[in-house]
Amino acid sequence: MKIGLLGFGVVGRGVYDITSELDNMQVAKVVCLEDVSLPDAEVTRDIQSVLDDPTIDTVVEAMGGVGAAYKFVRAAIEAGKNIVTSNKALVCSFYDELLPLAQSKGVQFRCTAAVGGGIGWLSELERSRRVQPIMQVGGIMNGTCNYILDSMTRLGLGYDEALKQAQSLGYAEAKPATDVEGIDTWHKVILSSNIAFGVSLDTTTVPVAGISAITAEDVAAFNARGYICKLISTGKRKDGKYSAYVQPTLVKPGQPEAAVPSNYNLITLVGKYSGRMSFFGQGAGRYPTAYNVVQDCADVIAGKGFYCEYGPKVAAVNDDKMTYYVRGDRDAWLSEHTADTWGEAVITKPVSVSDMHAWLKTHPGAFIAALSDDAL
Ligand SMILES: NC(=O)c1ccc[n+]([C@@H]2O[C@H](COP(=O)([O-])OP(=O)(O)OC[C@H]3O[C@@H](n4cnc5c(N)ncnc54)[C@H](OP(=O)(O)O)[C@@H]3O)[C@@H](O)[C@H]2O)c1
Repeated sequence: MKIGLLGFGVVGRGVYDITSELDNMQVAKVVCLEDVSLPDAEVTRDIQSVLDDPTIDTVVEAMGGVGAAYKFVRAAIEAGKNIVTSNKALVCSFYDELLPLAQSKGVQFRCTAAVGGGIGWLSELERSRRVQPIMQVGGIMNGTCNYILDSMTRLGLGYDEALKQAQSLGYAEAKPATDVEGIDTWHKVILSSNIAFGVSLDTTTVPVAGISAITAEDVAAFNARGYICKLISTGKRKDGKYSAYVQPTLVKPGQPEAAVPSNYNLITLVGKYSGRMSFFGQGAGRYPTAYNVVQDCADVIAGKGFYCEYGPKVAAVNDDKMTYYVRGDRDAWLSEHTADTWGEAVITKPVSVSDMHAWLKTHPGAFIAALSDDAL
């Protein structure tokens, strides 16, 4: 395999290093903006030189974003190149365009590192769905949020302090919104659900609540009542209906998610025969992530394409009823649905996920967390 590598940052550099030790694949060209020189690959700023090179059969996209990455990946598929990418935002945002295009062009498309970094999560979903229906996917999919919540819970830090610590350790970016507002997790659960259930979820029907409004007082209230707050994603199918959402969730010690420390991930599937199976590990980092990118390249060599057939467009219904901790303006709706109070916050009667998130949209400074017996 001859690879055109797009991007030479954290992941791209890792891919270059790992492939340089392998005999069956080689990075032939690197498209990047930095002035680097490499012993055995041509470095260029010109994507066209990759697209026009008939010896390059596979493009590995490790640039990130949905601007240039989208244009380059689309052009590479059009040019008949296989695609391996670690970019969840790209795959999730352009699922309905890139997947059918790759299938119509007869090229392989894989993105295992996009969910769980070095955890072989999507490739396990691919194996799992061959022999059983998968009913549920989800869990802790973002190490930055888990690090912040874990530090707040164990060390009693405030949100800003925990975020700063995460940034100083390289676990959070300088602009952390995509992680702390839950968008990264949202991309990952949509992609996981699409593959697990063989559908294309309408992303506008998948609500997300992040952790940026959580305070030390919220966490103290949870601790006092024996709860631990985690950012949990859920994708489910039941009786031909789908639900998918991302929200802070209060779990009890003893639930597997409660024990996930630091910046780790715990991603779970529930299958008809396997039951509940969880995958734990570092969801990011140069070599773990690059490892999965290179595994995808090996799978492409073995003839493997996407994890499932591109499936029908479906809406998430989200009519599960849950009890929520809500800190925010007590308007008429919230007063009507209040069952209890925890200090300034209320505990709701069971309300549907969609109603709770619709309320949150009109109260952007509020914080919500679901109380759950089963974290997913
Ligand atoms: N880092 C992880 O642990 C991890 C884990 C899982 C998935 N991912 C995903 O992997 C992707 C890459 O992440 P990363 O952490 O490696 O990012 P990164 O360190 O920022 O690297 C991205 C690289 O792409 C280059 N680039 C950006 N736009 C370009 C363009 N138009 N032409 C050529 N090069 C361009 C950047 O150059 P400049 O620096 O000069 O802009 C940079 O070298 C993202 O989609 C991310 O979500 C990362």
